[in-house]
Amino acid sequence: MIVTHHKGSYEITFGPRPEFHGPMLADSHVAELYNLEGAMTIPAGEASKSLAEYGRLASLLLQQGITRKSHLVAIGGGVTGDLVGFVAATLLRGIPFTQVPTTLLAMVDSSVGGKVGIDVPEGKNLLGAFHPPAAVFIDPDFLKTLPEREHQSGMAEALKHGLIRNPELLTKLHQRPLNQTLEEKLIEEAVKVKAEVVQADEFETLGIRAQLNAGHTVAHALEQVLNFEELLHGEAVAIGLAIEAELAESLGLAKLGTAKTVKDVLLREGLPITHPALSNPEPLITAMKRDKKSTGEGIAFSFVLEPGTCKLVTDVRPADVAQFLRQR
Ligand code: NAD
Ligand code: GLY
Repeated sequence: MIVTHHKGSYEITFGPRPEFHGPMLADSHVAELYNLEGAMTIPAGEASKSLAEYGRLASLLLQQGITRKSHLVAIGGGVTGDLVGFVAATLLRGIPFTQVPTTLLAMVDSSVGGKVGIDVPEGKNLLGAFHPPAAVFIDPDFLKTLPEREHQSGMAEALKHGLIRNPELLTKLHQRPLNQTLEEKLIEEAVKVKAEVVQADEFETLGIRAQLNAGHTVAHALEQVLNFEELLHGEAVAIGLAIEAELAESLGLAKLGTAKTVKDVLLREGLPITHPALSNPEPLITAMKRDKKSTGEGIAFSFVLEPGTCKLVTDVRPADVAQFLRQR
């Protein structure tokens, strides 16, 4: 499957793997597993989304004589895509790039939409740009070598897309055992949701793209409190989706029964729906107040109102969130 981007519009087509000519930059595990000779390797792991690694890659590419006609190819998961995309966004004030996502999370979420960036000591993803890849080449065959836990983590983001826009992703397409045909369809439908939402609000100014952040207010806070250790991003998102669904129901915003459906879907995938750190609300609330969606009125959440429908709510009182967490 190939997702192309042109002037804010996304198109999905099917066809063979295109020829890649530009410098290839690949996650080190992926380069080794797939014998990607000639690729510049990026050490696997979130630590590579750093100023140091960004500087190393930019210098190497400049020394190799990169021009504005060059086209970078990022091969790996969300870490590689975010980092290489940021290099592409800034080198020579911007050169094109293609994403070849190799994790489920990158296929259904991070490779599409143009958010690229790196982490700085002050926080995750705080240095970045909107720089959509010219094309995203999605080959589900890469998933054959992906560890199960990483697969589950990616599934959390696919299920999130179902929860905000397409309930079929939670039922018809989310079955066990997941055969390859079903998985390819699931990826396609999840990517369609992502592309549709991004297309409607590319630069996240209309409160539409923020819907992709369902579960993420709690997830980001939890990741921060746990120093980005212990949980994979998708696992934190799963917990966030479950907790935010309970909160939305307790505030009378979501349809009764939504939280149970959300939790059932996540549990079916073997994903976590709670964490002991939730019983200590104060540090979580502090982190939630700093969420990028926040407008200063209160804590912002993209609440699933019922499966397939989502709404950005920006004025939830911190005291109400704290009380909810204490009482649950
Ligand atoms: P990742 O890139 O770290 O990959 C996870 C692990 O899987 C790594 O160890 C990697 O080496 C390994 N791996 C990758 N492909 C493999 C394969 N085919 N077979 C075997 N192993 C393989 O993590 P991720 O979950 O893909 O991405 C997480 C990152 O994505 C985070 O930095 C997050 O901030 C970012 N993200 C960005 C967006 C966005 O819109 N830009 C959205 C969601 C997440
Ligand atoms: N991952 C959220 C977004 O792309 O907006």
